[in-house]
Amino acid sequence: MNKHDFYALVPKAELKQVIDDYQTPGYIYFKKVLHHQINRLKTATHGQFDIHYALKANPNPNMLAELASQGIGADVASEGELTRALAAGFAPEKIEYSGPGKRQDELTLAIDNNIASINIENIKEAEKIVEICKASGQTANVGVRLNPTLENERSGMRMAGDTPFGLKVEDAKVALKIIEDNADVLNFTGFHGHLASQELDADKLVAKYAVVIEHAIALTKDTSLTVKKINFGGGLGIKYFPNQTDLDLSLYADNLKKLIGSEMLSQLPKDIKLIIEPGRFLVGESGVFVTQILYRKQAFTKEFLIADGGLSANYVLAGGMGQVIKRNFELDVMTEKEKAVEGGFKFDVAGPLCTPQDIIASNVDSDVEVDEGDYIVFFNCGAYGPSASPINFLSQKVPAEIII
Ligand SMILES: Cc1ncc(COP(=O)(O)O)c(C=O)c1O
Repeated sequence: MNKHDFYALVPKAELKQVIDDYQTPGYIYFKKVLHHQINRLKTATHGQFDIHYALKANPNPNMLAELASQGIGADVASEGELTRALAAGFAPEKIEYSGPGKRQDELTLAIDNNIASINIENIKEAEKIVEICKASGQTANVGVRLNPTLENERSGMRMAGDTPFGLKVEDAKVALKIIEDNADVLNFTGFHGHLASQELDADKLVAKYAVVIEHAIALTKDTSLTVKKINFGGGLGIKYFPNQTDLDLSLYADNLKKLIGSEMLSQLPKDIKLIIEPGRFLVGESGVFVTQILYRKQAFTKEFLIADGGLSANYVLAGGMGQVIKRNFELDVMTEKEKAVEGGFKFDVAGPLCTPQDIIASNVDSDVEVDEGDYIVFFNCGAYGPSASPINFLSQKVPAEIII
């Protein structure tokens, strides 16, 4: 989302007021932007898909409580995320757990809470779940996370093919056999497939959903198992940079409609639950990251604005989390003076760390001069922010977070 689209939802004067009353470095999340995204996604999925939220995108407790209050389910990937999801009010029957390295105590917590589905990603994990259930006299709801093929083209971050995630078809067959053989303690839920991240092409995204359905049909056809749900994962992208195009939600909606009416899906039970679990798409655009300029510094050819928050508070801005080429996020300056500079004012924003990597914007062209005490606002920072940043690096100030 560019700043003009953001200001259409949250006017600049309102943002400025919040920043003036607030601490930096910090994140401000706006519920109205969050609700806007939830509503758009509910419309696009025709009310026929359950929407779960991938906590890894932003596990802020107030953000979670807001999402839970909207009837959204949860995707968790650790004991910590499961605990946060339960504390925020997500119903256990709407929580799924996926992740390649689930510890015994984590599986036990998931089983104790009878969550909707533990999505198995390792044959040993399936055996562990059986052992825990047999030892404790409990049952577990389990699905199989698929890693269907090596042919998934690379888009954004690689989530399928030669990755640690999910089970390839031969291994999925073994896991399904374990589930069938232990039907006294394992309740088969269905399949999970998260095959993309930051996907901006609605055709490619839904084509991946079809791959998961095809495999679900083939893998269960000669078994006693009923596919009660398919979770297609997250991966819906947002526009960060000018060279990107927003995910076309009306095309996504059309593609889902075709999928819902497809002959392929009709081979699975009529009452099958279809789920998506986006992270970034739900929360990414709702948050801004704000940092205050401490000093100006003219180096040899560049003018640096030294800010009170940088890489340790927001790793993505400094090119972290799998960006191949580091680009500037959409940003704006909040200055008291609005002093226009003839020929423009060019600057880099550096954080306070003692590493040359702590540059969070480069070669920015501004119409106005930016001075000590002014703020730089970075947009699209609601996902993979504090929780995906090396907050302890240099023992810097932990960024504040507020939801409005
Ligand atoms: C299993 C799973 N589900 C959902 C997501 C959320 O992805 P995104 O934020 O791209 O929607 C991820 C991200 O890595 C994931 O691993």
